[in-house]
Amino acid sequence: MNRQKPIVIGHRGSAGEAPENTLASFALAVEQGADGIELDVQLTKDGEIVVCHDLTLDRTTNGSGYIGEKLWEDLKHLDAGSWFSEAFTGERIPLLRQVFDLLPRGFLINVEVKHAYEGKMEKALLALLREIDRWEDIVISSFDHKVIHRIKQAQPNAKVGVLYAANLIDHAAYARQLGVDVFSLHPYHQCIEQEDVRAAASAGLAVYPYTVNHTADYKRMIAADVTGIITDYPARLREFLAQ
Ligand code: G3P
Ligand code: MG
Repeated sequence: MNRQKPIVIGHRGSAGEAPENTLASFALAVEQGADGIELDVQLTKDGEIVVCHDLTLDRTTNGSGYIGEKLWEDLKHLDAGSWFSEAFTGERIPLLRQVFDLLPRGFLINVEVKHAYEGKMEKALLALLREIDRWEDIVISSFDHKVIHRIKQAQPNAKVGVLYAANLIDHAAYARQLGVDVFSLHPYHQCIEQEDVRAAASAGLAVYPYTVNHTADYKRMIAADVTGIITDYPARLREFLAQ
C-alpha cells in the first residue's frame, strides 16, 4: 500500500452512485480508480458474514427484520439494489467472502465491524481472514474499540483501525493507550485537524477520515495531510486530486 497520499477509499463501495455495500458498488469503485473500499459487516444466525450497514434489512433491501435472526438462505435472494435505483434491481447482499473474491490483491479493504454479536463476529471474521490470508490488504475498524482490541490480541498481524466521531484531546495518545498496535485512525472528518494528523503520522498511524464528499472538505483533508480519504464519490475525489 505505498500509494500517493491521500489514497481514495470508496465508502460502502461507491455509495453515491450505486447501492451501498453491493458487488456493483465495489466494482464501480475499482472502475473509478479507488485505491480501496470501506464496507460494513453483519452476522447471520448461522454464522455467515454479510455486507450490510444496518442491523436490519429494511432500509437497503426488500426484506425486513434483524440480520442476526436470519439464515443466509433467507437473505441470499433478497434485492439490495432496487431501493437505490431500478437499474440495480437484482443486486444481492454479498457475503464478505464474495467481496474478497471480487477485489484484486493490493486493493485496500476496510472492513468495519458494526456489531460484536456477543463475540461471534470477531471469531467468524478471523476464521475467514486466516483462510484468505490477505493481511496486508485488510484493515478492520470499528466504533467498538473492544472488538478491535480483541481482534488484535487474537491475531497480532491483523491491521486494526480506531473509528470514532469525537474531537479527542490527543488522537494518537488515545490509540496508544488501547495497548495494542493500531494501524490507523478513522475519525469523522470534522473531528481531525492538521496537528492531530501530524502527531498521528509521528506515531506511525495512518489517518483515514470519513465520509468526505465535498470539495471544501477534500481541500481541508488534503491540507491536513491525511493518508487516505473515505468518500461516497471515488470518481469525484480522483478527479479533484488530478487537478
Ligand atoms: O468507516 C467509516 C464510516 O463508514 C463509519 O460510519 O455509519 O458510514 O458506517 P458509517
Ligand atoms: Mg461504515
